[in-house]
This record gives sequence, structure tokens and C-alpha cells, in this order.
Amino acid sequence: MSGHYFEFEHVWKSFDENTVLKDVNFFVERGETAVIMGRSGVGKSVSLKLLLGFLEPDEGRIILGGKDVTGWTEEQFFEIRRRVTMVFQGGALFDSLTVAQNVAFPLESRGGRLDREQIDARVEELLTMLEVADLADRFPAELSTGTKRAVAIARALAENPEAILYDEPTTMVDPLMASHVSDLICKLKQTLHKTSIVVTHDTHLAKKLADRVIFLVDGGVAFFGTWPELEKTEDPFLRNFLAQDEMVPALDATA
Ligand SMILES: Nc1ncnc2c1ncn2[C@@H]1O[C@H](COP(=O)(O)OP(=O)(O)OP(=O)(O)O)[C@@H](O)[C@H]1O
Ligand SMILES: [Mg+2]
Repeated sequence: MSGHYFEFEHVWKSFDENTVLKDVNFFVERGETAVIMGRSGVGKSVSLKLLLGFLEPDEGRIILGGKDVTGWTEEQFFEIRRRVTMVFQGGALFDSLTVAQNVAFPLESRGGRLDREQIDARVEELLTMLEVADLADRFPAELSTGTKRAVAIARALAENPEAILYDEPTTMVDPLMASHVSDLICKLKQTLHKTSIVVTHDTHLAKKLADRVIFLVDGGVAFFGTWPELEKTEDPFLRNFLAQDEMVPALDATA
């Protein structure tokens, strides 16, 4: 067991000639919310996929849920992915299922611990929490991108995981809805206290949420600390990034 809930220790990851992560180190304590930032293509999604075992590191050690999961098999990851869930970049709902059926899916597909009535009650509770209860019978095609994100978050919370990973929850969402999704994530942080990692370009969301910021630049961790520490940084690249984003608050809507 490690003291940290999530940790990368000297993690390297390449795809053929493309070395994406070069000796990456960070940790997230139990109960904390960490934010991963950095330019497009820097390896943010790859980092989340490495944590959950969807990708394997070339070198280094990965801690998930306080356990060293380096070299784990698919079967071992299968179980732990119920305790640590992910809202994928883009949300990925099942188009042929209604909102309620999407959220019920993880509860129904994993060995039937709950009966129909219990599943329906849990789905209603989740949809209410994410403020989409009135859309239970709609299909994803009928929803805005932002609403789809809220439903994807409800589905990720269905089995009451210990921890949740969000991959760009407000990207490609119109500014008003992005701010609503941000508020929902902040509300969940305050009410559920789950260990979380949020990948985002959205400095407003990052500032509100982050107990810790992991800033990736060119395959390495350029900054690891709190938001107030980041705001005091002398690093010209980071200063520039923060300044640019303040001028373009709707960056995510056009990403
Ligand atoms: N399965 C894969 N096979 C080959 N290359 C990959 C694979 N997954 C990611 N990459 C490459 O790794 C790099 C990092 O990708 P990643 O998706 O982590 O970027 P990101 O930081 O999440 O960017 P964005 O902000 O655009 O989502 C990119 O160059 C990408 O092309
Ligand atoms: Mg990504």
C-alpha cells in the first residue's frame, strides 16, 4: 500500500517514435481533487488511461486506489474500475438507450446486486443530483452536449465509486452550459468528497476545484502545487498560459 491514492512514479510512455510522457511524477491524496492542465496533445488523456489500466506504461510505477497496479492484468483492473470511474472525453453515452437506461446500465450489467425497484430509485437519485431528472426518457441525440456530460457524470457515479476521473468535462460545451457543468462538479466535490482528477483547459474551473494542480509541458510536469502557488509562478510559459486563458474565457467552447 502507498500513502497516496493516485501516484505516478517516473512514468514513461511512448507510441512508436512519439514519446509522450517523460519521467512523470505526481500524486493525489485520498479525498483531494487534482486538476491536470496542459496544451492539447501533451498527454493528459493518456495519463488518465494509464491510471485505469487502459494503457500500460513503458517504465515507472502507477498507484491506483492506494495500490501498486503496475503490470496488473485486465481482470484485476476490471474490478477496480468499479471503485474508480471515468467520465471520458466526449461523454460517450449509448445512443440507443434513454438517459435513465444509460445511468442504469452499470447497475444492471454487473451481476444484479440491486433489484428493479432499487435500480430505479438510484437512477432517480442520480438524475436529481445532476439536475436532469426531467430528461429521464429522452435519448442522447435530443440533448445538448452539456446535458450529455451531466448524464455521463451521473452514470459514472452510479455504483458510488470512491474516486472519479473527469476528462475535459466542459470542452465542446457552450459557455453557459459549461459554467453549469462546472458548478455541478464543484457541488459534487463539496457534497460527495470523492478523490478526483479533472483534466481541463478551463482555468476558472481549475481555480475553483483544484487542491493540487499538475501542469504538463512537453511530456514532463512543469508545475505541481496549489492554485495560489501557480498564480505566483515566475515561469514565463505558465504565466503566458494563465494570462491567455483569462483573455479567452470561452476557449473551451471553440476547442
Ligand atoms: N492509442 C494511441 N496510439 C498512438 N498515439 C496515441 C494514442 N493515444 C494518444 N496518442 C498520442 O499521445 C499524445 C497525447 O495524447 P492525449 O490524448 O493524451 O493528449 P491530451 O493532452 O489529452 O490532448 P487534448 O487536450 O487534445 O485532449 C498525442 O500525440 C496522441 O496522438
Ligand atoms: Mg485529451
